[in-house]
Formats: sequence, C-alpha cells, structure tokens
Amino acid sequence: MELAGKHFLVTGASGALGSRITARLVDAGATVTISGRSEDALSALGVDGAHVVAADLAHPGAPEDLVVQATSHVGHLDGVVIASGVVAFGPAAEVDDDTVDDLLLVDLLAPLRLVRSALTRVEAGGVILSISGVIAEKPVGGMAAYCAAKAGISAFVEAVRPEARRRKVRVVDARPPHTETGLATRAISGTAPSMPTGLDPDDVAARIVAAIVDDEKELPSSAFS
Ligand SMILES: NC(=O)c1ccc[n+]([C@@H]2O[C@H](COP(=O)([O-])OP(=O)(O)OC[C@H]3O[C@@H](n4cnc5c(N)ncnc54)[C@H](OP(=O)(O)O)[C@@H]3O)[C@@H](O)[C@H]2O)c1
Repeated sequence: MELAGKHFLVTGASGALGSRITARLVDAGATVTISGRSEDALSALGVDGAHVVAADLAHPGAPEDLVVQATSHVGHLDGVVIASGVVAFGPAAEVDDDTVDDLLLVDLLAPLRLVRSALTRVEAGGVILSISGVIAEKPVGGMAAYCAAKAGISAFVEAVRPEARRRKVRVVDARPPHTETGLATRAISGTAPSMPTGLDPDDVAARIVAAIVDDEKELPSSAFS
C-alpha cells in the first residue's frame, strides 16, 4: 500500500502506540485524522496538517460519528488504525461492574463499532487495522475482562475479513506482546502484576506500519519477535 496521499483515521492517537503510528504514517506522506478524548493532548502532538477530532469512544454514537467526520473532512478514507484502549487489573470476581462495563465499551464495543462503520466507508484498496494484543491468543489471569474484550474484538475482526475482502478492504487484527508504553500504569482499576520487560513501542509501531505498507493480512504476536 502506497501511503502518500492516503488519508488515515487513527484512534488513540494521543497514546504511546497511536502517536508513533501516526508519526510514521505522516512521515510516509499520509494525511491523518487523529482522535482521543483530549483535544489539548492531540494538538500538543503537533502533527502537521492533522484533522483533530476529540471523542469519547465509550459513547454509543461516537465511533460512527468519528468515521463519518474523518471521511467527510478529506472526502475519502483509506485506512483506520484503532489504537485506543484501556486496561484494568484484579481478580474477576472483585473488579467492580463499572470497570467491567468501561473495559467492554472501550476495548470491545468501540472498536467493533468503528470497524462496522469503516467497512462501508474505507476506499477499495484500503485497510482497517485494530490492535487487540497477545492476550487475545493466550488469556492470562488477573485481567480477565480485558482478555475477554480483546479476544472478542479479535474474533470480530477475523469474522468480517471475508466480507471486507469482497469490498477490497483489508482488515487486520494486530496482536502485539506486552510493550513498554506505560499502559499498565494508566489502568482504570487495579494494579498491574510485575511483568517481564516488554517490547520497545517504536519497534511495535514500526512493525504495524510495515504490515500496512506490505499488504500483510495477519499480524499475530509471533510477527513481533
Ligand atoms: N502496551 C501494551 O503492552 C499493549 C500490548 C498489546 C496491545 N495493546 C493495545 O494497544 C492499544 C494502545 O495501547 P498503548 O499501550 O499505546 O496505550 P496508551 O498509551 O494508554 O494509549 C491509549 C489511547 O487510548 C485512548 N483512549 C482511552 N480511552 C478512550 C476513550 N474512552 N475514548 C477514546 N480514546 C480513548 C487514550 O487517549 P485519551 O486518554 O487521551 O483519551 C490513548 O490515546 C490499546 O488498545 C492496548 O490495549 C497494548
């Protein structure tokens, strides 16, 4: 996929992976619509020519509104990278209901709605890439609701792939292993267990953008080693 002149929507663009992916897309000549909850955080990134749309994707209508705004702003949408997400830790029976609801809203329903909306709007030859994570392949204890949300969106992306292919749109589920982005320190609830040192976020972002450029259809955890 040639990135020059293409228009991408990146959610979670204020985050560690989203900001790095955005920078690489722009360096390669793409234009971007960038989203996160804080307009200030997005503007502070200083991304050249970026269309900034602040949105809380936990709200039911927000994902579709965002895709519509991104498409109409430039007149075409060639790619969507879903790099928004939150994590929470704790025994499954003890994590409170609101936390579970938030996890499922942000990590499962929001990306599912983004993909559904993007499927009919991304141009032929385009790509929709959602970042789930290694835990979609191998769930671990102490973060069961996060694992369920990520496994759910991974399954959804896999399931829509044939219908996307009929529209000549590539749908990719990226499942990077643990990465040193600080995500665990921003948990919406609970405390992360000690984890071995994760991957470098620059390497993970580079691998994801390479998969976009090289028309890769799969990005399992093994593709990051
Ligand atoms: N780090 C890892 O080890 C790892 C491994 C595998 C997969 N992943 C996944 O990769 C994605 C990016 O993670 P990261 O490590 O880059 O985390 P991060 O730095 O914390 O970035 C998360 C992004 O999500 C946005 N976000 C959170 N809640 C939102 C909401 N309700 N509405 C809209 N945007 C929201 C945040 O923006 P605001 O807070 O400004 O709204 C931020 O831009 C996540 O889905 C994560 O689960 C991470």
